[in-house]
Amino acid sequence: MKALGKLHAKPGLWLYDAPMPQMGPNDLLIKVAQTSLCGTDLHIYEWDEWAKRTIPVPITTGHEFFGIVAEVGSNVHSFKKGDRVAGEGHIVCGECRSCRAGVYHLCPNTQGLGVNRTGCFAEYVALPAFNAILVPNEISDDVATILDPFGNAVHTALSFDLVGEDVLITGAGPIGQMACAIAKKVGARNIVATDINDERLEMARKMGATHVINTKRDPLLFPEGFTVGLEMSGAQKALDQMIDAMVCGGKIALLGILPPHTTLDGTKVVFKSLELKGIYGREMFSTWQKAIRLLQEGIDLEPVISHKLPYTAYEHGFELMRNAKCGKIILNWR
Ligand SMILES: NC(=O)c1ccc[n+]([C@@H]2O[C@H](COP(=O)([O-])OP(=O)(O)OC[C@H]3O[C@@H](n4cnc5c(N)ncnc54)[C@H](O)[C@@H]3O)[C@@H](O)[C@H]2O)c1
Ligand SMILES: [Zn+2]
Ligand SMILES: [Zn+2]
Repeated sequence: MKALGKLHAKPGLWLYDAPMPQMGPNDLLIKVAQTSLCGTDLHIYEWDEWAKRTIPVPITTGHEFFGIVAEVGSNVHSFKKGDRVAGEGHIVCGECRSCRAGVYHLCPNTQGLGVNRTGCFAEYVALPAFNAILVPNEISDDVATILDPFGNAVHTALSFDLVGEDVLITGAGPIGQMACAIAKKVGARNIVATDINDERLEMARKMGATHVINTKRDPLLFPEGFTVGLEMSGAQKALDQMIDAMVCGGKIALLGILPPHTTLDGTKVVFKSLELKGIYGREMFSTWQKAIRLLQEGIDLEPVISHKLPYTAYEHGFELMRNAKCGKIILNWR
């Protein structure tokens, strides 16, 4: 089968003929229909320091996908051939303290699809049935393809009560844009999105931001202060601005992957009595249930999808991402 992988320890990804995935009795074999490109894939493509430390070579990459169940493991009873599925790409150990407490998203032994184990940028992927998500028919193939990053937005945005709150979202990439839609849907009062890219801010406005600010050009002014902050840029500068702009007692959820030695004004955090929560992945599986319900209740993610390309055009997709000339990019494997 065709697959896209990291075949050499240097920048790039390569299309190759991979063997069909091995599936066990608890797995599903899924015919991949579409995948989407994530910042993580770009890190792997570019072979940065994190990727060099983390990615085994060779590996088939990719973790965001939608597909159709092609084969069902002998122990699996909850799925059948032909089911429309997306997948939770964090495969947990099931044995550690967190897993045994039912908080799977906190498993320290998590293996990432397309990061630590064979991924979904391929015609077929094998996945534990535990990780598969049945996609209701009213959710389109395109939206189903980006359920994983939407789950990141849902997990972050619903970490704190947003009803009637003044929410600051730093970073209006695809996930920040989706967070604007969630904040609007659940009844936030003001939703202020910041970015340093005007096109992305325009998208955030379309998705539900009440105000957008390009902080490269304009100051982040909001005299009353924000009660909830969703950090979705991974930028030191944005975190500093957020801490300054919060009210006393404000709550901050951190999704953006900040660099290892990010600094934090501890004095402000303490004297403002701020609450900080790091977010990794999605809660298994309540985030998925909430995400699907929010879509059924009318959140539309189609505007976040900017490009649909055949999988063979992946180089073009990464080029668009590198220049931030895009929202979510879908690769078609059919
Ligand atoms: N914690 C997790 O589990 C998890 C999962 C997925 C993504 N992420 C991270 O979440 C973040 C958002 O994901 P995405 O796919 O939307 O990424 P993205 O890179 O497309 O978006 C980040 C946005 O932040 C903007 N930005 C950069 N500097 C800024 C600044 N100083 N102020 C405001 N905005 C600034 C960029 O212009 C960009 O539009 C990324 O950092 C990503 O790595 C984390
Ligand atoms: Zn992703
Ligand atoms: Zn575990």
